[in-house]
Order: sequence, then structure tokens, then C-alpha cells
Amino acid sequence: MTNYKELGLVNTREMFKRAVAGGYAIPAFNFNTLEQMQAIIQAAVETKSPVIMQVSKGARNYANGTILRYMAQGAVEYAKELGCEHPEIVLHLDHGDTFELCKDCIDNGFSSVMIDGSSLPYEDNIALTKKVVDYAHQHDVTVEAELGVLAGVEDEVVAEESHYTKPEEVIDFSTRSGCDSLAISIGTSHGAYKFKPEQCTRDPKTGKLVPPPLAFDVLHEIEKKLPGFPIVLHGSSSVPQDEVDTINKFGGNLPDAVGIPEEQLREASKSAVCKINIDSDSRLAMTAAIRKHFAEHPDHFDPRQYLKPARENMKKMYIHKIVDVLGSDGKLAQC
Ligand code: G3H
Ligand code: 13P
Ligand code: ZN
Repeated sequence: MTNYKELGLVNTREMFKRAVAGGYAIPAFNFNTLEQMQAIIQAAVETKSPVIMQVSKGARNYANGTILRYMAQGAVEYAKELGCEHPEIVLHLDHGDTFELCKDCIDNGFSSVMIDGSSLPYEDNIALTKKVVDYAHQHDVTVEAELGVLAGVEDEVVAEESHYTKPEEVIDFSTRSGCDSLAISIGTSHGAYKFKPEQCTRDPKTGKLVPPPLAFDVLHEIEKKLPGFPIVLHGSSSVPQDEVDTINKFGGNLPDAVGIPEEQLREASKSAVCKINIDSDSRLAMTAAIRKHFAEHPDHFDPRQYLKPARENMKKMYIHKIVDVLGSDGKLAQC
């Protein structure tokens, strides 16, 4: 048993309280590689932001859960080495789908877990979430639950259609499950193709797709039912057009990729939404930089030559999200 406190990590409780009260959101960045971890920590330290580093089941399969845990411990030490005396770093399980997986993470240094029972019948979702909460709280680990279904690829679960969270269910769900935060469905979805072209309109000037707006009315109803309760948005990458253009220019093929406009995420960050999940934008930033580098340097074969610009491009994106979209810069309790 390794408790996260021994690793210098923190759970989400205090940072969410401050984020909801302060009208900003904490970035939750997925990571699978060393370069992503380095870029996340450099960005968080330079902006003095709390940060959630999250690991999906797919990331554990790719990189090995033990290695990722030691990387998170390394991230705390790295932040200190970069000059941040009191970093606030959460190691979070993204889209846990069983009690056993959540328990394994809790027993091995995670400070926060998500139990995603959103594809289960309502009562089964409550029962599974409560089982995870009962165990997690014995170790002071915080638990995110999900109610409502996001469209798109959700780790290994694929949902064809989204079902917005029903505001009339959130009080009962959060009270009976005991969860610490709640991921809701208001129109975001996972991946780089968040909307089908037929769901969008086209900007007559640029020809680019304009997605339908998020359901802010649903969000506001939920906020009214659960005043001050931490709300989470998954599937919140913006799919920056310049990165998509770079990928396509240098041999990629991502036609009609479309994300959530940043002004809507900015607005959401000011509400009870206090955690915003971003993975695809990091993938796009990394891929764009690597494709460009290979096109311009066909003789390069040392991974450090192309992973360095990839890391720099991801760091730039993380800083932009923290400062210009979520507003979590300068929000460490102690510097
Ligand atoms: O919600 C899904 C995350 O983007 C993680 O994706 O399962 O491919 O690691 P992944
Ligand atoms: P994106 O695919 O929009 O980056 O969403 C990531 C996410 O929600 C991880 O849980
Ligand atoms: Zn997600």
C-alpha cells in the first residue's frame, strides 16, 4: 500500500473548493509519455497553477501503471526542482470502470479516482460509485462520478449518442453515492471529431465548421440544484485549427476535425465547473510538431530531435489553456 501523501501528491478537495469559489477551473491533462509529463509540469510551475495529471486505462496498458505512478512522484520532485516549493499535483484515474481498478489505483499512490458508471442503469451507477467512495474515503482519496452519457469514444466504451445529464437526478445521485465531484454531459464529447459535419454550420468566410453551443441551460439548472458542488467537463479539447492544418499540410489526414470553442470553455470555467479534461489537444500539438519536424528534417532519426519540439508545442498549449481559458494561473495556495 502506497498512500499518495507519501509521494507529495494532493487530492482534489481543497483545490476544487477554491476553484468553485474563485470562478476558475483546474486543468486535467491526460498523460502517457515522459514528454507530456515534463510539459505539463513546466507549464504548471511557470503559471503557478494547480494541476491534475490523469491516467486512463489505455495509458496504464500503454505505459504501465507502476511506471506512471513513479512518473507522478517524479513530477512532484521535478516541480520543486523548477522552483515551486508547494506544488499541488493530483494523480487521477480517468474513466475507471470497475471497483477493482479504482482500488488498485488507490492502493498504489493515486490521490483521486473516477468511477465511470455512466453506461450503467441509474441504480447500478449509484451502487458502484458508492462502493468506490466508501473505500476511497478511508484513504482520503477523492472520487469523481459521471451521470449522463457523452457521445464519442469514451476510453473503451463507445457511445453513439449523447444523453444530457438530467438535472432532476443530480441531488439524489450525489447524496446517495457520496461522490466528491460529478462529470456531466452538456454536449462535449471525446476525441478530435466531436461533432458530425451535419450537426454544425459552416462559417461562410472560412468554410470551417462551427459546432452547436453547449447546453448551458442544463449546466445552470444543475448548479442551482447543487450549489457549490464541483462539476467536471470531459471531452473539452478545442481541436485548434492551426494544429489540424499543420498535421494536414505535412502528410496527415484529419478532415473536418472539430472541438469545443474556447470561449465556451472560458464561460464554463467561471461556473461550478472546476475540472476541465483535455487530452486530444495534447495529441494534436505533439503530432503537428513531429510531422513538421520530419518534413523539414528528413535526415533526423534521434527521437530527442523531434520530441523536443513536440514537448515545446505541448507546453505552449498547456500554458495557453491555463492562462487564457481556465484561469487557474497564480492559484496555488502557497507558492
Ligand atoms: O477519455 C478518454 C481519454 O482521452 C483517454 O483516452 O483511453 O485513448 O488513453 P485513451
Ligand atoms: P478530449 O478528447 O476532448 O481531450 O477529452 C479528454 C477527456 O475527457 C479525458 O477524460
Ligand atoms: Zn473523459
